[in-house]
Amino acid sequence: MLSKAEVVARYLPETLQVKPSAEAFAPSNIALCKYWGKRDNALNLPVNSSLSISLGHLGTHTRLALSDSGEDKVLLNGKEQALDSPFAAKAIAFWDLFRRDQILPIEINTTNNIPTAAGLASSASGFAALTKAINEFANLNLPIDVLSAFARMGSGSACRSLFDGFVEWEMGQLEDGMDSHGIALEASWPDLRVGLVKVETGEKAVDSRSGMKRTVETAHLYQSWPMQAAMDIQKLRQAIADKDIDALGMTAEHNAMSMHATMIASWPPLLYWQPASVAVMQNVWGLREQGVSVYLTMDAGPNIKLLFEADQEAAIKAVFNDMEVVAPFAS
Ligand code: DP6
Repeated sequence: MLSKAEVVARYLPETLQVKPSAEAFAPSNIALCKYWGKRDNALNLPVNSSLSISLGHLGTHTRLALSDSGEDKVLLNGKEQALDSPFAAKAIAFWDLFRRDQILPIEINTTNNIPTAAGLASSASGFAALTKAINEFANLNLPIDVLSAFARMGSGSACRSLFDGFVEWEMGQLEDGMDSHGIALEASWPDLRVGLVKVETGEKAVDSRSGMKRTVETAHLYQSWPMQAAMDIQKLRQAIADKDIDALGMTAEHNAMSMHATMIASWPPLLYWQPASVAVMQNVWGLREQGVSVYLTMDAGPNIKLLFEADQEAAIKAVFNDMEVVAPFAS
């Protein structure tokens, strides 16, 4: 098995020539067909292809500069982070793949504009923005497919955040994973909306990385997952081509529920839902019974994302009044 460092090194010049500073932005993304399970834990190579929608201007802005102090420095939303904090350690470990043994102390300044109230994870947009910023900072001029594959090595779902709109992450087949990256779909859907419904939780969840590992290792139900994901990708492609919100929403909701079923069937069981998550689901299903076209999806956490079209927004907001609404294709 190859290591990340070995794979990245093939694309680097012998000596990095860095600029004084560089910056980049990457959007957050929500999977409509989820990535759940790895065939290679070191390179984050997935068992199945996945498909997402990027959240436009919501995401991560990252600025890199050579550190004046000669020491690495990491800031998150304006606050300096301890270098041994999980966030700083991951970001620095990623930069280490590029600087190798060169003395290049860095200041990584990351700002997320994802509303904290939305309870959205930001590792996808974070690694995508960091990868883009490194490409600029170190004058690498690498093609976007390569950058997407690099971002994947930081966090799988980050490979989809290199692109706007609908993005398919092809699982690929190569041992080095360089064919496992995002591809933007040629599609626009101006009326599409994503609603972010935050569910309060005091519980600390199991992160996606350990959650998917546990599922792959212990859930017999997981065996049916790759087949379901492959079918769902086909259906989503068609729904996107037809701009059919019911087909898109139904497929995304069914896919998310199937992923959660594999989590629940793990040992020890993984249940990311809170009682309030279930209450939101029931409200969504209640709205559908009243003829409102609204569907839900959930990741490895208690929060719910809704999928609908602009003309349904008022009816949905009447039930979820503090929902944050994103228009992924707004110009
Ligand atoms: C449920 O990309 O966070 O959100 O590759 O281990 O960093 P790592 O996992 P991550 O997993 C995301 C899982 C998901 C589904 C998805 O976004 O496709």
